[in-house]
Amino acid sequence: MDKIRIVGGNRLDGIIPISGAKNAALPLIIASLLTDERLTLENMPRLRDVSLLTRILSNHGADYSLNGKRPGEDHLAGQTIGLTAREIVDTRAPYELVSQMRASFWVIGPLLARCHRAQVSLPGGCAIGTRPVDLFIAGLEALGARIDIVAGYAMAEAPGGLRGARYVFPKVSVGATHTLMMAATLAKGETVLENAAREPEVVDLAACLVAMGAKIEGAGTSVIRIQGVDRLHGATHRVMPDRIETGTYAMAVAMTGGDVTLTHTSGDLLRAGLDVLAATGTTIEETADGLRVARDPAAPIRPVDVVTEPYPGFPTDLQAQFMALMSRANGTSRITETIFENRFMHVAELARLGAHIAIDGRTATVTGVPRLVGAPVMATDLRASVSLVIAGLVAEGETTVSRVYHLDRGFERLEEKLSRCGAVVERISGEGMR
Ligand code: EPZ
Repeated sequence: MDKIRIVGGNRLDGIIPISGAKNAALPLIIASLLTDERLTLENMPRLRDVSLLTRILSNHGADYSLNGKRPGEDHLAGQTIGLTAREIVDTRAPYELVSQMRASFWVIGPLLARCHRAQVSLPGGCAIGTRPVDLFIAGLEALGARIDIVAGYAMAEAPGGLRGARYVFPKVSVGATHTLMMAATLAKGETVLENAAREPEVVDLAACLVAMGAKIEGAGTSVIRIQGVDRLHGATHRVMPDRIETGTYAMAVAMTGGDVTLTHTSGDLLRAGLDVLAATGTTIEETADGLRVARDPAAPIRPVDVVTEPYPGFPTDLQAQFMALMSRANGTSRITETIFENRFMHVAELARLGAHIAIDGRTATVTGVPRLVGAPVMATDLRASVSLVIAGLVAEGETTVSRVYHLDRGFERLEEKLSRCGAVVERISGEGMR
Protein backbone atom coordinates (compact mmCIF):
# COMPACT_ATOMS: atom_id res chain seq x y z
CA MET A 1 0.00 0.00 0.00
CA ASP A 2 1.16 3.55 -0.72
CA LYS A 3 2.46 5.90 1.94
CA ILE A 4 2.95 9.65 2.04
CA ARG A 5 6.39 10.82 3.16
CA ILE A 6 6.75 14.35 4.48
CA VAL A 7 9.83 16.22 5.61
CA GLY A 8 8.64 19.08 7.78
CA GLY A 9 9.94 22.60 8.09
CA ASN A 10 9.13 24.43 4.84
CA ARG A 11 6.69 27.30 4.56
CA LEU A 12 4.04 27.16 1.85
CA ASP A 13 4.01 29.75 -0.93
CA GLY A 14 2.16 29.66 -4.23
CA ILE A 15 -1.20 28.77 -5.73
CA ILE A 16 -3.41 25.78 -4.95
CA PRO A 17 -6.36 25.11 -7.27
CA ILE A 18 -9.35 23.75 -5.34
CA SER A 19 -11.21 20.79 -6.84
CA GLY A 20 -14.93 20.12 -7.10
CA ALA A 21 -16.50 19.06 -3.81
CA LYS A 22 -16.56 15.34 -3.05
CA ASN A 23 -19.60 15.72 -0.81
CA ALA A 24 -21.52 17.50 -3.55
CA ALA A 25 -20.31 15.15 -6.29
CA LEU A 26 -21.64 12.03 -4.56
CA PRO A 27 -25.32 13.04 -4.24
CA LEU A 28 -25.18 14.61 -7.72
CA ILE A 29 -24.05 11.30 -9.20
CA ILE A 30 -26.89 9.54 -7.36
CA ALA A 31 -29.40 12.09 -8.71
CA SER A 32 -28.76 10.70 -12.20
CA LEU A 33 -30.93 7.71 -11.20
CA LEU A 34 -33.97 10.02 -11.20
CA THR A 35 -34.11 10.42 -14.98
CA ASP A 36 -33.75 8.30 -18.11
CA GLU A 37 -31.90 11.16 -19.79
CA ARG A 38 -28.25 12.13 -19.56
CA LEU A 39 -26.96 14.11 -16.57
CA THR A 40 -23.67 15.84 -17.34
CA LEU A 41 -21.59 16.83 -14.32
CA GLU A 42 -18.67 19.21 -14.80
CA ASN A 43 -15.81 19.98 -12.40
CA MET A 44 -15.89 16.45 -11.00
CA PRO A 45 -12.96 15.77 -8.70
CA ARG A 46 -10.72 12.83 -9.57
CA LEU A 47 -11.27 10.80 -6.44
CA ARG A 48 -11.58 7.19 -5.48
CA ASP A 49 -15.07 7.79 -4.01
CA VAL A 50 -16.28 9.26 -7.29
CA SER A 51 -15.09 6.34 -9.39
CA LEU A 52 -16.40 3.84 -6.86
CA LEU A 53 -19.85 5.44 -6.84
CA THR A 54 -20.09 5.57 -10.64
CA ARG A 55 -19.29 1.86 -10.65
CA ILE A 56 -21.96 1.24 -8.00
CA LEU A 57 -24.50 3.11 -10.14
CA SER A 58 -23.61 1.07 -13.18
CA ASN A 59 -24.88 -1.92 -11.22
CA HIS A 60 -28.32 -0.27 -11.20
CA GLY A 61 -28.11 0.22 -14.97
CA ALA A 62 -26.50 3.64 -15.35
CA ASP A 63 -24.02 4.11 -18.20
CA TYR A 64 -21.26 6.59 -17.61
CA SER A 65 -18.69 8.31 -19.76
CA LEU A 66 -15.73 10.49 -19.03
CA ASN A 67 -14.60 13.38 -21.23
CA GLY A 68 -10.91 13.63 -22.06
CA LYS A 69 -8.71 16.68 -21.57
CA ARG A 70 -9.81 19.86 -23.37
CA PRO A 71 -7.53 22.55 -24.88
CA GLY A 72 -6.05 24.74 -22.15
CA GLU A 73 -6.80 22.28 -19.35
CA ASP A 74 -4.16 20.77 -17.12
CA HIS A 75 -4.47 17.58 -15.15
CA LEU A 76 -5.71 19.51 -12.11
CA ALA A 77 -8.82 20.72 -13.96
CA GLY A 78 -12.05 18.91 -13.06
CA GLN A 79 -13.44 16.15 -15.19
CA THR A 80 -16.77 15.98 -16.98
CA ILE A 81 -18.80 12.85 -16.34
CA GLY A 82 -21.97 11.90 -18.21
CA LEU A 83 -24.42 9.52 -16.52
CA THR A 84 -27.46 7.99 -18.20
CA ALA A 85 -29.79 5.66 -16.31
CA ARG A 86 -32.07 4.92 -19.27
CA GLU A 87 -33.50 1.92 -17.51
CA ILE A 88 -33.05 0.83 -13.90
CA VAL A 89 -32.24 -2.83 -14.28
CA ASP A 90 -31.56 -3.60 -10.63
CA THR A 91 -33.11 -1.92 -7.59
CA ARG A 92 -30.87 -3.82 -5.19
CA ALA A 93 -27.74 -2.23 -3.68
CA PRO A 94 -25.75 -5.10 -2.21
CA TYR A 95 -23.75 -5.13 1.02
CA GLU A 96 -20.45 -5.63 -0.83
CA LEU A 97 -20.92 -2.22 -2.48
CA VAL A 98 -22.75 -0.17 0.19
CA SER A 99 -20.27 -1.23 2.88
CA GLN A 100 -17.48 0.31 0.77
CA MET A 101 -19.16 3.70 0.71
CA ARG A 102 -21.86 4.83 3.12
CA ALA A 103 -23.23 7.47 0.76
CA SER A 104 -24.32 4.77 -1.68
CA PHE A 105 -27.17 4.03 0.77
CA TRP A 106 -28.68 7.29 -0.50
CA VAL A 107 -29.72 5.53 -3.75
CA ILE A 108 -32.75 4.37 -1.75
CA GLY A 109 -34.41 7.78 -2.37
CA PRO A 110 -34.18 7.92 -6.18
CA LEU A 111 -34.86 4.19 -6.59
CA LEU A 112 -38.07 4.40 -4.52
CA ALA A 113 -39.13 7.57 -6.32
CA ARG A 114 -38.57 6.22 -9.82
CA CYS A 115 -39.11 2.46 -9.49
CA HIS A 116 -41.33 2.43 -6.36
CA ARG A 117 -39.08 -0.19 -4.83
CA ALA A 118 -35.54 -0.63 -3.53
CA GLN A 119 -33.56 -3.16 -1.55
CA VAL A 120 -30.54 -1.42 -0.10
CA SER A 121 -28.05 -2.89 2.32
CA LEU A 122 -27.66 -1.06 5.63
CA PRO A 123 -24.18 0.48 5.62
CA GLY A 124 -23.17 -0.45 9.18
CA GLY A 125 -20.97 1.62 11.49
CA CYS A 126 -17.68 3.21 10.52
CA ALA A 127 -14.51 4.62 12.02
CA ILE A 128 -16.12 7.89 13.11
CA GLY A 129 -19.30 6.56 14.73
CA THR A 130 -22.32 4.26 14.54
CA ARG A 131 -24.02 6.45 11.92
CA PRO A 132 -27.56 5.03 11.90
CA VAL A 133 -30.09 5.47 9.05
CA ASP A 134 -33.23 5.87 11.15
CA LEU A 135 -33.99 9.35 9.76
CA PHE A 136 -33.89 8.12 6.16
CA ILE A 137 -36.35 5.37 7.04
CA ALA A 138 -38.71 7.57 9.05
CA GLY A 139 -38.64 10.26 6.33
CA LEU A 140 -39.30 7.87 3.46
CA GLU A 141 -42.09 6.25 5.48
CA ALA A 142 -43.61 9.70 5.92
CA LEU A 143 -43.64 9.89 2.09
CA GLY A 144 -45.67 6.68 1.99
CA ALA A 145 -42.96 4.02 1.65
CA ARG A 146 -43.18 0.74 3.55
CA ILE A 147 -39.77 -0.31 4.78
CA ASP A 148 -38.84 -3.53 6.54
CA ILE A 149 -35.37 -4.40 7.72
CA VAL A 150 -34.67 -7.96 6.64
CA ALA A 151 -31.30 -9.68 6.88
CA GLY A 152 -29.34 -6.43 6.92
CA TYR A 153 -31.29 -4.84 4.07
CA ALA A 154 -33.82 -2.01 3.97
CA MET A 155 -36.57 -3.58 1.85
CA ALA A 156 -38.60 -0.61 0.66
CA GLU A 157 -41.66 -0.28 -1.53
CA ALA A 158 -44.16 2.40 -2.39
CA PRO A 159 -46.87 0.81 -4.56
CA GLY A 160 -48.38 3.55 -6.69
CA GLY A 161 -45.46 5.88 -5.90
CA LEU A 162 -44.37 8.21 -3.10
CA ARG A 163 -46.76 10.89 -1.82
CA GLY A 164 -45.72 14.36 -0.69
CA ALA A 165 -45.83 14.96 3.07
CA ARG A 166 -44.43 17.13 5.85
CA TYR A 167 -41.43 15.65 7.62
CA VAL A 168 -39.60 17.29 10.52
CA PHE A 169 -36.07 15.94 10.98
CA PRO A 170 -35.55 15.26 14.69
CA LYS A 171 -31.84 15.91 14.08
CA VAL A 172 -30.01 17.64 11.23
CA SER A 173 -28.70 15.13 8.70
CA VAL A 174 -26.99 16.00 5.43
CA GLY A 175 -27.47 12.58 3.84
CA ALA A 176 -31.11 12.22 4.90
CA THR A 177 -31.85 15.73 3.55
CA HIS A 178 -30.25 14.86 0.19
CA THR A 179 -32.15 11.58 0.03
CA LEU A 180 -35.59 12.92 0.95
CA MET A 181 -35.18 15.92 -1.34
CA MET A 182 -34.36 13.60 -4.25
CA ALA A 183 -37.22 11.24 -3.38
CA ALA A 184 -39.74 14.08 -3.10
CA THR A 185 -39.00 15.45 -6.60
CA LEU A 186 -41.05 12.61 -8.12
CA ALA A 187 -43.63 12.22 -5.31
CA LYS A 188 -47.26 13.22 -5.85
CA GLY A 189 -47.98 16.63 -4.36
CA GLU A 190 -46.02 18.84 -2.00
CA THR A 191 -43.32 17.76 0.46
CA VAL A 192 -42.13 20.07 3.22
CA LEU A 193 -38.86 19.13 4.94
CA GLU A 194 -38.31 20.95 8.23
CA ASN A 195 -35.08 21.17 10.23
CA ALA A 196 -33.35 20.24 6.95
CA ALA A 197 -29.56 20.43 6.60
CA ARG A 198 -28.45 23.85 5.29
CA GLU A 199 -25.06 22.73 3.94
CA PRO A 200 -23.96 24.30 0.62
CA GLU A 201 -23.89 20.77 -0.85
CA VAL A 202 -27.69 20.59 -0.31
CA VAL A 203 -28.02 23.86 -2.23
CA ASP A 204 -25.84 22.47 -5.03
CA LEU A 205 -27.91 19.30 -5.30
CA ALA A 206 -31.13 21.33 -5.32
CA ALA A 207 -29.77 23.53 -8.14
CA CYS A 208 -29.00 20.45 -10.21
CA LEU A 209 -32.42 18.92 -9.51
CA VAL A 210 -34.10 22.19 -10.53
CA ALA A 211 -32.07 22.15 -13.77
CA MET A 212 -33.48 18.64 -14.28
CA GLY A 213 -37.03 19.99 -13.95
CA ALA A 214 -37.67 19.61 -10.21
CA LYS A 215 -39.60 22.26 -8.26
CA ILE A 216 -37.68 23.05 -5.08
CA GLU A 217 -37.68 26.13 -2.86
CA GLY A 218 -35.79 26.92 0.30
CA ALA A 219 -32.66 24.77 -0.11
CA GLY A 220 -30.02 26.36 2.13
CA THR A 221 -32.65 27.21 4.77
CA SER A 222 -34.06 24.77 7.29
CA VAL A 223 -37.41 24.48 5.46
CA ILE A 224 -37.32 22.99 1.96
CA ARG A 225 -40.51 22.79 -0.13
CA ILE A 226 -40.69 20.40 -3.06
CA GLN A 227 -43.60 20.15 -5.50
CA GLY A 228 -43.50 16.71 -7.07
CA VAL A 229 -43.37 16.46 -10.88
CA ASP A 230 -44.12 13.49 -13.18
CA ARG A 231 -40.64 13.20 -14.59
CA LEU A 232 -37.20 14.78 -14.57
CA HIS A 233 -35.04 15.33 -17.64
CA GLY A 234 -31.34 15.57 -18.46
CA ALA A 235 -29.24 18.60 -17.51
CA THR A 236 -25.70 19.92 -17.22
CA HIS A 237 -24.44 21.00 -13.84
CA ARG A 238 -21.09 22.21 -12.48
CA VAL A 239 -20.03 20.76 -9.12
CA MET A 240 -19.41 23.43 -6.46
CA PRO A 241 -15.90 23.96 -5.03
CA ASP A 242 -14.78 21.75 -2.15
CA ARG A 243 -15.11 23.88 0.99
CA ILE A 244 -13.41 21.25 3.13
CA GLU A 245 -10.42 21.02 0.79
CA THR A 246 -10.33 24.84 0.87
CA GLY A 247 -10.34 24.91 4.67
CA THR A 248 -7.76 22.14 4.87
CA TYR A 249 -5.19 23.99 2.76
CA ALA A 250 -5.96 27.22 4.59
CA MET A 251 -5.12 25.42 7.83
CA ALA A 252 -1.98 23.96 6.32
CA VAL A 253 -0.77 27.50 5.51
CA ALA A 254 -1.73 28.67 9.00
CA MET A 255 0.38 25.82 10.34
CA THR A 256 3.54 26.28 8.25
CA GLY A 257 3.33 30.02 7.67
CA GLY A 258 3.65 31.40 4.15
CA ASP A 259 1.41 32.94 1.54
CA VAL A 260 -0.88 30.85 -0.63
CA THR A 261 -3.73 31.73 -2.96
CA LEU A 262 -6.51 29.16 -3.16
CA THR A 263 -8.25 29.43 -6.54
CA HIS A 264 -11.62 28.21 -7.96
CA THR A 265 -13.26 28.49 -4.55
CA SER A 266 -15.09 30.98 -2.34
CA GLY A 267 -14.81 32.14 1.25
CA ASP A 268 -18.62 32.34 1.39
CA LEU A 269 -18.76 28.55 1.69
CA LEU A 270 -16.70 28.54 4.86
CA ARG A 271 -17.36 31.63 7.00
CA ALA A 272 -17.21 29.88 10.39
CA GLY A 273 -13.96 28.08 9.53
CA LEU A 274 -12.30 31.25 8.21
CA ASP A 275 -13.38 33.33 11.22
CA VAL A 276 -11.71 30.79 13.50
CA LEU A 277 -8.56 30.81 11.38
CA ALA A 278 -8.44 34.60 11.45
CA ALA A 279 -8.67 34.44 15.25
CA THR A 280 -5.54 32.24 15.29
CA GLY A 281 -3.61 35.12 13.70
CA THR A 282 -3.86 34.04 10.06
CA THR A 283 -4.59 36.67 7.41
CA ILE A 284 -7.46 35.78 5.09
CA GLU A 285 -8.18 37.94 2.07
CA GLU A 286 -10.95 37.32 -0.44
CA THR A 287 -9.88 37.36 -4.10
CA ALA A 288 -12.00 37.36 -7.26
CA ASP A 289 -11.61 33.60 -7.62
CA GLY A 290 -10.97 32.41 -4.06
CA LEU A 291 -8.85 33.30 -1.06
CA ARG A 292 -5.38 34.40 -0.13
CA VAL A 293 -4.16 32.91 3.14
CA ALA A 294 -0.99 34.18 4.81
CA ARG A 295 0.82 33.95 8.11
CA ASP A 296 4.25 35.02 9.28
CA PRO A 297 5.98 31.77 10.26
CA ALA A 298 7.68 33.55 13.17
CA ALA A 299 4.38 34.79 14.66
CA PRO A 300 2.72 32.60 17.30
CA ILE A 301 -0.44 30.64 16.48
CA ARG A 302 -3.13 31.88 18.88
CA PRO A 303 -5.26 29.19 20.58
CA VAL A 304 -8.99 29.28 19.76
CA ASP A 305 -11.83 27.12 21.14
CA VAL A 306 -14.07 25.42 18.61
CA VAL A 307 -17.36 23.49 18.69
CA THR A 308 -18.38 21.55 15.58
CA GLU A 309 -21.94 22.17 14.40
CA PRO A 310 -24.13 21.66 11.34
CA TYR A 311 -23.71 24.37 8.69
CA PRO A 312 -23.27 27.33 9.05
CA GLY A 313 -21.30 26.32 12.16
CA PHE A 314 -17.72 25.06 12.24
CA PRO A 315 -17.65 21.82 10.17
CA THR A 316 -16.84 18.46 11.73
CA ASP A 317 -14.90 17.69 8.54
CA LEU A 318 -12.31 20.33 9.55
CA GLN A 319 -12.07 19.34 13.21
CA ALA A 320 -9.05 17.02 12.87
CA GLN A 321 -7.14 19.53 10.73
CA PHE A 322 -7.82 22.30 13.24
CA MET A 323 -6.66 20.08 16.07
CA ALA A 324 -3.35 19.57 14.25
CA LEU A 325 -3.00 23.36 14.00
CA MET A 326 -3.86 23.87 17.68
CA SER A 327 -1.23 21.30 18.67
CA ARG A 328 1.34 24.01 17.82
CA ALA A 329 -0.60 26.94 19.29
CA ASN A 330 0.84 29.26 21.86
CA GLY A 331 -1.52 28.09 24.64
CA THR A 332 -4.45 25.75 25.31
CA SER A 333 -7.60 25.29 23.26
CA ARG A 334 -10.73 23.16 23.65
CA ILE A 335 -12.23 21.39 20.65
CA THR A 336 -15.71 19.90 21.08
CA GLU A 337 -17.12 17.45 18.54
CA THR A 338 -20.93 17.40 18.55
CA ILE A 339 -21.71 15.67 15.23
CA PHE A 340 -20.03 12.26 15.49
CA GLU A 341 -19.40 10.39 18.72
CA ASN A 342 -16.07 8.85 17.78
CA ARG A 343 -14.22 11.38 15.71
CA PHE A 344 -11.05 11.68 17.79
CA MET A 345 -9.15 8.75 16.32
CA HIS A 346 -6.40 11.11 15.11
CA VAL A 347 -5.55 12.14 18.67
CA ALA A 348 -3.39 9.12 19.43
CA GLU A 349 -1.54 9.56 16.12
CA LEU A 350 -0.96 13.29 16.65
CA ALA A 351 0.42 12.34 20.07
CA ARG A 352 3.01 10.18 18.29
CA LEU A 353 4.31 13.40 16.74
CA GLY A 354 4.51 15.03 20.18
CA ALA A 355 1.10 16.73 20.47
CA HIS A 356 -0.40 17.10 23.96
CA ILE A 357 -4.11 16.35 23.78
CA ALA A 358 -6.43 15.10 26.53
CA ILE A 359 -9.91 13.83 25.74
CA ASP A 360 -12.84 14.11 28.09
CA GLY A 361 -16.04 12.86 26.47
CA ARG A 362 -16.73 15.00 23.42
CA THR A 363 -14.08 17.61 24.21
CA ALA A 364 -10.38 17.51 23.46
CA THR A 365 -8.11 19.88 25.35
CA VAL A 366 -5.08 20.69 23.25
CA THR A 367 -2.03 22.17 24.94
CA GLY A 368 0.15 23.68 22.25
CA VAL A 369 3.78 22.59 22.11
CA PRO A 370 6.72 24.45 20.54
CA ARG A 371 7.80 21.54 18.38
CA LEU A 372 6.50 18.33 16.83
CA VAL A 373 8.86 15.56 15.75
CA GLY A 374 8.27 13.36 12.69
CA ALA A 375 7.27 9.72 13.14
CA PRO A 376 5.44 6.96 11.27
CA VAL A 377 1.67 7.40 11.72
CA MET A 378 -1.47 5.86 10.30
CA ALA A 379 -5.00 7.09 9.91
CA THR A 380 -8.49 5.72 10.28
CA ASP A 381 -10.45 8.10 8.10
CA LEU A 382 -10.11 10.73 5.44
CA ARG A 383 -9.97 13.91 7.53
CA ALA A 384 -7.84 12.27 10.22
CA SER A 385 -5.25 11.35 7.56
CA VAL A 386 -4.97 14.88 6.28
CA SER A 387 -4.59 16.23 9.82
CA LEU A 388 -1.50 14.05 10.11
CA VAL A 389 -0.16 15.48 6.86
CA ILE A 390 -0.68 19.02 8.21
CA ALA A 391 1.17 18.12 11.41
CA GLY A 392 3.92 16.46 9.38
CA LEU A 393 4.47 19.71 7.45
CA VAL A 394 5.92 21.32 10.59
CA ALA A 395 7.26 18.26 12.40
CA GLU A 396 11.04 18.08 12.54
CA GLY A 397 12.41 15.34 10.31
CA GLU A 398 10.40 12.73 8.49
CA THR A 399 6.75 11.71 8.94
CA THR A 400 5.26 8.82 6.99
CA VAL A 401 1.49 8.49 6.80
CA SER A 402 0.25 5.02 5.93
CA ARG A 403 -3.22 3.89 4.81
CA VAL A 404 -3.13 6.57 2.15
CA TYR A 405 -6.23 5.09 0.52
CA HIS A 406 -8.22 7.14 3.04
CA LEU A 407 -6.67 10.34 1.63
CA ASP A 408 -7.35 9.26 -1.94
CA ARG A 409 -11.06 9.06 -1.16
CA GLY A 410 -11.28 12.82 -0.75
CA PHE A 411 -8.14 14.79 -1.64
CA GLU A 412 -7.17 15.06 -5.27
CA ARG A 413 -3.39 15.02 -5.87
CA LEU A 414 -2.66 16.30 -2.38
CA GLU A 415 1.05 15.65 -2.56
CA GLU A 416 1.34 17.51 -5.85
CA LYS A 417 -0.70 20.50 -4.67
CA LEU A 418 1.45 20.85 -1.54
CA SER A 419 4.82 20.20 -3.12
CA ARG A 420 4.13 22.83 -5.80
CA CYS A 421 4.02 25.30 -2.88
CA GLY A 422 7.37 24.25 -1.48
CA ALA A 423 6.50 21.40 0.88
CA VAL A 424 8.53 18.21 0.82
CA VAL A 425 5.72 15.70 0.35
CA GLU A 426 5.87 12.61 -1.80
CA ARG A 427 3.98 9.43 -2.38
CA ILE A 428 5.93 6.24 -1.97
CA SER A 429 4.22 3.50 -3.89
CA GLY A 430 3.67 0.19 -2.15
CA GLU A 431 5.76 -1.47 -4.87
CA GLY A 432 8.79 0.65 -4.04
CA MET A 433 8.59 -0.18 -0.36
CA ARG A 434 8.71 -3.92 -0.53
C1 EPZ B 1 -22.14 13.98 5.53
O1 EPZ B 1 -22.28 12.69 6.11
C2 EPZ B 1 -20.76 14.01 4.93
N1 EPZ B 1 -20.63 12.96 3.93
C3 EPZ B 1 -19.71 13.83 6.03
O2 EPZ B 1 -18.44 13.96 5.45
C4 EPZ B 1 -19.90 14.92 7.07
O3 EPZ B 1 -19.00 14.70 8.13
C5 EPZ B 1 -21.32 14.90 7.60
O4 EPZ B 1 -22.27 15.01 6.50
C6 EPZ B 1 -21.64 16.02 8.57
O5 EPZ B 1 -21.40 17.25 7.97
C7 EPZ B 1 -21.02 13.17 2.70
O6 EPZ B 1 -21.57 14.21 2.37
C8 EPZ B 1 -20.77 12.10 1.70
P1 EPZ B 1 -25.17 13.30 8.69
P2 EPZ B 1 -23.69 12.16 6.54
O7 EPZ B 1 -26.28 12.41 8.27
O8 EPZ B 1 -24.73 12.70 5.64
C9 EPZ B 1 -26.64 11.20 12.71
C10 EPZ B 1 -16.19 13.34 5.07
O9 EPZ B 1 -15.13 13.21 5.74
N2 EPZ B 1 -27.68 10.49 11.95
O10 EPZ B 1 -25.34 14.76 8.54
O11 EPZ B 1 -23.58 10.69 6.70
C11 EPZ B 1 -25.22 10.76 12.35
O12 EPZ B 1 -24.88 9.55 12.98
C12 EPZ B 1 -17.51 12.90 5.60
O13 EPZ B 1 -16.20 13.81 3.93
C13 EPZ B 1 -28.62 9.76 12.62
O14 EPZ B 1 -28.62 9.68 13.87
O15 EPZ B 1 -23.83 12.83 7.99
C14 EPZ B 1 -24.41 11.94 12.82
O16 EPZ B 1 -24.21 11.85 14.19
C15 EPZ B 1 -17.50 12.00 6.76
N3 EPZ B 1 -29.59 9.10 11.90
C16 EPZ B 1 -25.34 13.13 12.52
O17 EPZ B 1 -26.66 12.57 12.38
C17 EPZ B 1 -29.63 9.15 10.55
O18 EPZ B 1 -30.52 8.52 9.95
C18 EPZ B 1 -25.02 13.90 11.25
O19 EPZ B 1 -24.81 12.98 10.20
C19 EPZ B 1 -28.68 9.93 9.87
C20 EPZ B 1 -27.71 10.60 10.59
